[in-house]
Formats: sequence, C-alpha cells, structure tokens
Amino acid sequence: METKKAIIERKSVRAYSSEQIKDEELNALLTVANTAPVAGGAYKTMHLTVVQNPDILTKIREMYQSASGAKSDVLYGAPTLIIVSGKRDFDETALFANVGCIIENMSLAAYDMGLGSVFSWATGTILPTQTELVKELGISDDFKPLAGLAVGYPAKELPKRVKMSEIETNYIR
Ligand SMILES: Cc1cc2nc3c(=O)[nH]c(=O)nc-3n(C[C@H](O)[C@H](O)[C@H](O)COP(=O)(O)O)c2cc1C
Repeated sequence: METKKAIIERKSVRAYSSEQIKDEELNALLTVANTAPVAGGAYKTMHLTVVQNPDILTKIREMYQSASGAKSDVLYGAPTLIIVSGKRDFDETALFANVGCIIENMSLAAYDMGLGSVFSWATGTILPTQTELVKELGISDDFKPLAGLAVGYPAKELPKRVKMSEIETNYIR
C-alpha cells in the first residue's frame, strides 16, 4: 500500500536546500539502485558515481551552462548528483532502460525518505563530451555517463502529485 502511495505522489523537485543529505540516506539510495532490474542481470554493465564535492558540482553546472547556453542551474541547487553510466560495449537501448529503472528506484526511495530528486537527462547529454571532467569523476573509458539523479532536501515542502497524468491507453478485450 505505502509503495503505491509513494509511486503516485512523487514529484520532481527543482529547488533544493544547500544542506547535504545524510550518509544513511545516500546508502539507502545506493541500495535501491542495486536492486533495480537490469537487462540480463548484467549489473557490471552499469556504474554509479556519487558527486558531493561542491567544486565538482560547480564544474558540472558551469560545463552545462557553457555547453547549452542556459543560465539556469542544471542541478537546481541539489548538493548530491548520482551519475549513472553504462558500459560502452553493451546494447545502448538496454543501458538506457536500465538507467530508467535505477533512477526511478532511487527517486521513489528519496521521496519515501522525504528527500527531493529530479531525473537529470541534461547532465547525461553533456557529460560524455567533457572527457577531462569525466576523468576527474573517476569514470573509466569503458563507461559512458548516461544520466543522473539530483538529490537533496527540498527548499520548500516536498511537492505531492495532485493531478494524474493521462497516457493515452487503448484496450483490446
Ligand atoms: C528520461 C527522463 C529525463 C528527464 N530529464 C530531465 C532533465 O534533464 N531536467 C529536468 O528538470 N527534469 C527532467 N526529467 C523530469 C521530467 O520532466 C518529469 O519527470 C516530468 O515532467 C513529470 O513530472 P514529475 O516528475 O514531477 O511527476 C526527466 C524525466 C525523465 C523520465
């Protein structure tokens, strides 16, 4: 019952407090990342990078701004970014599906713990072109950063979904 409630209520958060999340909370997120379904059970095709160093987060923000021309903060002030990378020699569609499962697991667990989070496709689109920064992030050449999850305490009250989205559905009965 509670799981369903979290799935229905979770919303993306785009304004964070600067307070860092607790290590227990981070570890809980990493646990559910590691319990996400992954194609073929090939967990070794995925890699996670936890970025909490303020200087590196600033580099990522600035890199995004200069690459995209955007003035806004791609991480919305979140103090933690978890980057999900995938093995370059594995089927890319499967890797992206894995990213979705891993990130959704973490964002639901974040919501459950009162943390905000937002799926950051944006970081994944820009990071692979930034070879020096990727090296600094400790991501080996065999892996490509695909997307990230920005996480932190919400600047305001944790938002809750009030209106259901409607994916067009047809029935064959
Ligand atoms: C694959 C994927 C990529 C996304 N990329 C971004 C992103 O780069 N930046 C962002 O602010 N939100 C991003 N989002 C969040 C969506 O915009 C958001 O989930 C959607 O609008 C529904 O809102 P909700 O999460 O509040 O329910 C992404 C979501 C998904 C599933």
